[in-house]
Amino acid sequence: MVDRTARGDGPMTGAVVLGVGGSLPGRVVTNDDLATRLDTSDEWIRSRTGIGARRWVEPGTATSDLAVDAGARALRSAGVSTVDAVIVATTTPDRLCPAVAPEVAARLGLVGTPAHDVAAVCTGFLYGLANGVGLIASGAARTVLLIAAETFSTILDPQDRGTAVIFGDGAGAVVLGAAGPGAPGAVGPCVLGSDGIGADLIQIPAGGSRQRSSGLAAAPGEHYFKMRGKEVFRQAVERMAEVSLDALARAGLTVGDIDHLAPHQANMRICAAVAHRLGVPEDRVLANLDEVGNTAAASIPVLLAQAAADGRVKAGDQVLAVAFGGGLTWGAVTLAWPDAVASFGTFVPAGS
Ligand code: COA
Repeated sequence: MVDRTARGDGPMTGAVVLGVGGSLPGRVVTNDDLATRLDTSDEWIRSRTGIGARRWVEPGTATSDLAVDAGARALRSAGVSTVDAVIVATTTPDRLCPAVAPEVAARLGLVGTPAHDVAAVCTGFLYGLANGVGLIASGAARTVLLIAAETFSTILDPQDRGTAVIFGDGAGAVVLGAAGPGAPGAVGPCVLGSDGIGADLIQIPAGGSRQRSSGLAAAPGEHYFKMRGKEVFRQAVERMAEVSLDALARAGLTVGDIDHLAPHQANMRICAAVAHRLGVPEDRVLANLDEVGNTAAASIPVLLAQAAADGRVKAGDQVLAVAFGGGLTWGAVTLAWPDAVASFGTFVPAGS
């Protein structure tokens, strides 16, 4: 039987991570801040999600602004000023059209460089990584800047306590380069999957062609992000555990080889359940959910940039990154951590 699942059997030319960057907005929104206007509490949010606070952009700041900051940091970390391609993974582009990547590239001084967006919600970074690795494997690029950036605060329904407490804003980025397999920073085979039967579990109902072609104005609230949390929870645990094992097998590794599990920061209970299923001890699970919440596509690179910058992840460490998100989509990859100095910090809006 033909295997039609989207899986690479490893790049012809290997890709390595050359540099890492991450950027968070300065505005901290605590659970108590949200409890002043929503029927919720710090206790409920912490115990059900593991989130203590999140960062939200100030009015006027867009996804491209965070993306440019994270992208510039990754370029600095890699010690390069040009790349052959720019990819931006996001659920919250500045506009529905055009893609945000060309503008981000231009603001990074990369006019003329091919640039495109990837939309895979919380799996966006891993889909973007597969794209970048593919460009390198095909010979279309020798270096790629991959940025995952989100301003989820701009699409949240302020009255929906099931989503408003979970999501945060942020951006993370890596520079990928071509190298032989096994080189420091080597990216393992990217294993991806999707199930569009679950497309309505995570969605923004209005603003796309389905609603617009009706000629009817969107119903109130339909421009907001919506999620059926309980069903997402169950599927996330199953898919993330399954795809992790697949990525390990394809990389020729076992759970015992993994120094750090870097799970998409969806919910502390999801991350714990995935680690438990895989048999990864708690002290090998990276987390920053408590401080930043779920930053969707940006979640994994923000986590890795932060963990590398504060010394939790060191050169040569073997990392297993795994995500699940809207689409539905999922993916996992192993990374041999590079000897690069990560740049992680706070986004400062222009003119402030
Ligand atoms: N504060 C207080 N109560 C809340 C609440 C909040 N912020 N959000 C929901 N509730 C209530 C619900 O209204 C419900 O009340 P009811 O029993 O009176 O109807 C009760 O808590 C239980 O709701 P439920 O949705 O079953 O809770 P849960 O334990 O599944 O937790 C999520 C809700 C959203 C935290 C959880 O489902 C989740 O994290 N899902 C995955 C989300 C995710 O990570 N998505 C990103 C893509 S991977």
